[in-house]
Amino acid sequence: MTRTSPRFSDLLHLRGNELKRGDPVALPLVQSTMFHQPGTPEGPGYGRVDNPTWEALEHALSHLEDASCKVFPSGMGAISAALFATLQSGAKLLVPSDGYYVTRVLSAEFLTGFGVDVTERPSATFSEGGFDRFDVVFLESPSNPGLDVIDLATIAAEVRNRGGITICDNTTMTPLGQRPLDLGVDVVVASDTKSPGGHSDVLMGHVATRNTALLDRVETWRKVSGAIPGPQEAWLVHRGLETLEVRFDRMCSSAQVIAERLAGHPAVTAVRYPGLPDDPAHTLARRQMTRMGFLISLTLADEAAAERFINTCPLLRPATSFGGVHSSAERRARWGDDVAPGFVRLSVGVEPVEELWAALATALAALQG
Ligand SMILES: Cc1ncc(COP(=O)(O)O)c(C=O)c1O
Repeated sequence: MTRTSPRFSDLLHLRGNELKRGDPVALPLVQSTMFHQPGTPEGPGYGRVDNPTWEALEHALSHLEDASCKVFPSGMGAISAALFATLQSGAKLLVPSDGYYVTRVLSAEFLTGFGVDVTERPSATFSEGGFDRFDVVFLESPSNPGLDVIDLATIAAEVRNRGGITICDNTTMTPLGQRPLDLGVDVVVASDTKSPGGHSDVLMGHVATRNTALLDRVETWRKVSGAIPGPQEAWLVHRGLETLEVRFDRMCSSAQVIAERLAGHPAVTAVRYPGLPDDPAHTLARRQMTRMGFLISLTLADEAAAERFINTCPLLRPATSFGGVHSSAERRARWGDDVAPGFVRLSVGVEPVEELWAALATALAALQG
């Protein structure tokens, strides 16, 4: 989607343009598990299967993705649904070795137990060895936390030509910054806990695909596994989506400014941000992403410097997760990611950029004093 696409203004009026006189303009929250259904059932039946508040969220997400969507109670709920809907015993799955670690845990500790053959490869060399033997190829780009970018269109075409399926975790970009389905990927999964919710107060995820048979299977998985979102959570994410474009725009623009300044700072030994012209991912990122994202990876001298930076900057929340309105940061080595002890993942929030930079610069200067 380009920044001039009407998709986002239409999103804000999707519901409004369907209203009848006297209807509430804001989305009603429907908590009911039972629906009045005398005689032959029609419409919502039972709360594990249907909920009008989820459906409104799915309608909004489908509009953004330009594909049908099903929502799940977390990003991992969505990832599990996509994998369980596409894999079976004997299938071969390829996952990035440096993407979100819980996807690897799910693959290595659970899917292998059901007879799935799991291979891991680093994002930087993901295409080496080809995709001949894989039934499902799981992609994550830019990867979390290293921010490596992989060529989604080329990989999707190669996998499809060999009869496989691609699933792309688009959490770090959202459909506003990268559109994997338009690049030929079969299924998008995302954690809406991050920037779509945007306020660090709700977990949610979704699966989007233009393959109706696959979407039916994902929906059946939700029905039988019971992995359903709560209506209150769906309502919060629906509200978050209404301001996603304005937040995402600010966060990505600020991240570009901050990454450039971090790259020239003497206390910082390395920076990864796809928007930096000399970043190894830059050329590919410009080709396949419409924005460069709000995550920056920076490396400081050591663990102590990183902890001091994170914990003394008054405009940084020392917390895991990302994509919220408040800037936040954490040392990823504390979760076992294969990164340097001083490696920090910084999630740029919506604070005015000069105020945010002033706070970050003060915390960095203190490391040198
Ligand atoms: C890239 C990525 N995918 C998926 C998830 C899982 O999302 P959730 O925490 O909503 O289950 C995360 C969480 O941090 C993530 O960073």
